[in-house]
Amino acid sequence: MSKKTQFASRIGLIAATVGSAVGLGNVWRFPAEVQEGGGAAFLLIYIGCVILLGIPVMLSEFALGRAGHSDAIGALKNVGASKRWWVVGGIAILASYLILSFYMVVAGWTLEYLVQSVTGGLFEPVAGEAGLNSHFTAKMEEYVTTDWPPLIFTFLMIFINLGILLGGVQKGIERMSNIMMPLFFLVLVVFVVVALSLPDAGAGLSFFLRPDFSKITGSTIVSALGQAFFSLSLGMGILITYSAYFSSKVPLVRTAVTVSLLDLLVAIMMGLVIFPAITSFGLDGETIRGASLVFVTLPEVFTHMGMPQLWSILFFFLLAVAALTSTISIAEVSVAFIIDRFHTSRIKACLIVSLPLLPISAVCSLSMGLWSDFTILGMNVFDFLDNFATNILLPVGSILLCIFLGWFAPRNLMYDQLSNHGTIRSRLIPAVIWIVKYLAPVLIAVVLVSTFL
Ligand code: TRP
Repeated sequence: MSKKTQFASRIGLIAATVGSAVGLGNVWRFPAEVQEGGGAAFLLIYIGCVILLGIPVMLSEFALGRAGHSDAIGALKNVGASKRWWVVGGIAILASYLILSFYMVVAGWTLEYLVQSVTGGLFEPVAGEAGLNSHFTAKMEEYVTTDWPPLIFTFLMIFINLGILLGGVQKGIERMSNIMMPLFFLVLVVFVVVALSLPDAGAGLSFFLRPDFSKITGSTIVSALGQAFFSLSLGMGILITYSAYFSSKVPLVRTAVTVSLLDLLVAIMMGLVIFPAITSFGLDGETIRGASLVFVTLPEVFTHMGMPQLWSILFFFLLAVAALTSTISIAEVSVAFIIDRFHTSRIKACLIVSLPLLPISAVCSLSMGLWSDFTILGMNVFDFLDNFATNILLPVGSILLCIFLGWFAPRNLMYDQLSNHGTIRSRLIPAVIWIVKYLAPVLIAVVLVSTFL
């Protein structure tokens, strides 16, 4: 974050960091990954990745950000990294671009669903609808795989994002997220209660919570690791930029644990909504997978709640806000970098970052419909960018960061930051430092290499 846009309140820091972490990753990507990864076994590996690798990597970003006090590359420079370490910043910017390009598409769908909820279109019959169960599947097809409406909403989302970046990170998004994120959480609690009382909730729950280890493969582990980094906003230097504004009194370990557990909680709550809904509404055929999962199952849940339209409006509004707090954080990596390195104005930097997104996101959006036949390594462009950025770039960025902090940074940097210069004593601190130095780089590298074997 450039100096002009630092967050106003110190309390706002958890809200801002949680705001970056909680987003479409928890609501849309996590359930899809759980479904692909075979359910509870994936969940277990995911939790392991969050605790064993996610929290330590988050702490490396926090430590570097607070010690280096600048954007991702500036912070590296300020703690004495030589120029070749800047490649970490380069990876961060590439990853942030690729992630933004498909994230904006999904953010566009949430906006489209919000508008369709307000107009009531979401609940109107579609032509050629086979039965009630497939109503929202048909709607999803209509909204996502048609060529132009999703594209228009994607563009709208890019412009809203640009507007917030330009004007009011501090006034707008921070204040908004302080109110919206707790509200989002409360609404989720209601959905969980409703979903758990559905007739066939048990079967869905056992898929989500009873592990079948025979389903684990190398790619399950890579996906779980990628999802953990994605959901915690790691590997792109975003938290470096945010923590540059943490005061010297903030207890980093406790902050990282709080943020990570909140993020994990939201993901698990989504699982508790989605999987009971899938089995209860007979949606467990092959038809609804991945990208469309959430957009089909949630409206089904709403129809069982009384005033479905109202719930739908509320939910998609909050989801769109949650998506925006995340896109802002991703875009800010490049904006802060451009302002600090090239001394351009904020307006120019925001435009430089936002405008090229239009064509790239357009390709992603159209790859769901018109261009779905065009594939790279068997995936459409959308899935390819997602997999490449999430499962490869984020882990690589995290490995490099750990290697830098463990082996090349000033010797006491990690310890001084995590202990607030010796004033906090905790057994966790040496454990985290050990993980960052030895375990994390090796483990992440092994997982990554195993994908190519
Ligand atoms: N964590 C966000 C989500 O779950 C997405 C996100 C924000 C992100 N910043 C990031 C992902 C940085 C990777 C890296 O929706």
